[in-house]
Amino acid sequence: MHKLPALLLFLCSCAVGVAVHLWLRGSFYGCWWWSFSGLSVLFPQWEPIHYDLVVGILSARHNFELRNVIRNTWLKSFKHDPALNQRVQVKFIIGAHGCDIPVEDREDPYSCRLLNITNPILKQEMEVFIIPEAASSVLSEDRAVSVNFRVLYPIIITRLGVFQDNSIVGFERNITVKVYQAEHEEPLFSARFSPTSSGVQVDRLWYKPVEQFVLPEGFEGTVVWESHDPIGLISRNLHKVILNDGGGVLRLTTVEEGLLRYELSESVEGIAGGFTYTIHEGEALLQNLNSRPERLLSHLTKLEEEDALLKEESSTYQDIVFVHIIDTYRNVPAKLLHFYRWTVESTSYDLLLKTDDDCYVDLDNMFQRIVQKNLKRPNIWWGNFRLNWAVDRTGKWQELEYPSPAYPAFACGSGYVISKDIVQWLASNSDRLKTYQGEDVSMGIWMAAIGPIRYQDNLWLCEKQCETGMLSSPQYSPEELTKLWEKREQYGTPCACEER
Ligand SMILES: *[C@@H]1O[C@H](CO)[C@@H](O)[C@H](O)[C@H]1NC(C)=O
Ligand SMILES: *[C@@H]1O[C@H](CO)[C@@H](O)[C@H](O)[C@H]1NC(C)=O
Repeated sequence: MHKLPALLLFLCSCAVGVAVHLWLRGSFYGCWWWSFSGLSVLFPQWEPIHYDLVVGILSARHNFELRNVIRNTWLKSFKHDPALNQRVQVKFIIGAHGCDIPVEDREDPYSCRLLNITNPILKQEMEVFIIPEAASSVLSEDRAVSVNFRVLYPIIITRLGVFQDNSIVGFERNITVKVYQAEHEEPLFSARFSPTSSGVQVDRLWYKPVEQFVLPEGFEGTVVWESHDPIGLISRNLHKVILNDGGGVLRLTTVEEGLLRYELSESVEGIAGGFTYTIHEGEALLQNLNSRPERLLSHLTKLEEEDALLKEESSTYQDIVFVHIIDTYRNVPAKLLHFYRWTVESTSYDLLLKTDDDCYVDLDNMFQRIVQKNLKRPNIWWGNFRLNWAVDRTGKWQELEYPSPAYPAFACGSGYVISKDIVQWLASNSDRLKTYQGEDVSMGIWMAAIGPIRYQDNLWLCEKQCETGMLSSPQYSPEELTKLWEKREQYGTPCACEER
């Protein structure tokens, strides 16, 4: 009952739009399709509106303010300009699910993995490996073996150790044990074992104390055992030992997970000894764990509130595409692929613009340039490309699965435009495409496979800068975006000086 007047109103406004813009391909049918999408089954000849450009804005769930500012700034002109309105479809891309673990209880802020520490062992030195009695040591020919680990809660390594040789009494070997921090060429600390300086024997290992550093949460380390003795090292396979993770404060990162080893490529994976460690600031850890249940509960409540707000926002503005992933940084590449699939299944267009919710975008400039440079063509990727960009093995941009030291060309953060045929290729292969740490570099790696025409354009700014004629610029706060837009409206350019 209530639907009828609204529908009529919609049809009227649509009819006006059609009258004014008869030149727009497909808009007449499109209008009907949107109004009676249910009927399109009965009348399959009705096609959706064909847009020149679909805009996908990657947005985090909680960025309500940024989205509203975008709606009231660079999207405003297109909303109120019927010509543009028929040519552009804009969607915010948002993960349907929030991470149900509070940030402080995650392994890292970029994924949704629980920092799973239970019954941590405090104020006590622990040996990192438990070696079953039955397992025998293997005399290998390897000159160097190594193991990678990741620190989940700060620890201090107190001693480094090497295996005892069962066949002889005392210590006859020459072995150096080094601990590296990922991507660093110099070891952080080391210990040398020799017949004249063998340290202390504890069960089946010889230990020596080392300089004590606090290895922080997120620390990626490698322990390397090296020997130049003709007889090689006594080592064990990682499967033959049990990790004593102190309740969950550290984890081994192994080749089996498909992860890269750091550039210590001459060593083989394994252990030729161990180390002892203590948990740093264990009291704080205990307190943190004790308050966890409460924190989890209040986080879930907040998540429900967020869900409700998002639902409301979506029904008010009709400009959100919810994709079925957990909304974390590491999932952004998957988020993008989901969106590409959505566009292919749900809408009709020539070009797709991908940008982020902290970007200033100038759609007018963009359309001018598309015409000027004749960019409405297949097989095109228009952006500002980073070339020979080094792959980080630690930190926010940590990438352990892409083996090269440098990424293939990728468009920098503020946005890019690709043609529909490329989106179609991505969408139809989305089940198979491997996602890497970031959405921008993943796109570069995927594109390397099909090699579209890269149209380099410096007006897609990679940094937060203002340039007259810019297509987009990243990293703004809601206030800054508002300011830019005010200046554009007042002076014709967002980069005008304030004092005039
Ligand atoms: C946390 O660790 C415990 C013990 O190691 C394990 O049983 C449990 O499944 C883990 N929980 C999660 C969510 O990983
Ligand atoms: C260890 O080094 C010493 C001195 O360089 C050498 O004499 C000895 O043979 C080495 N031990 C082994 C097991 O090779």
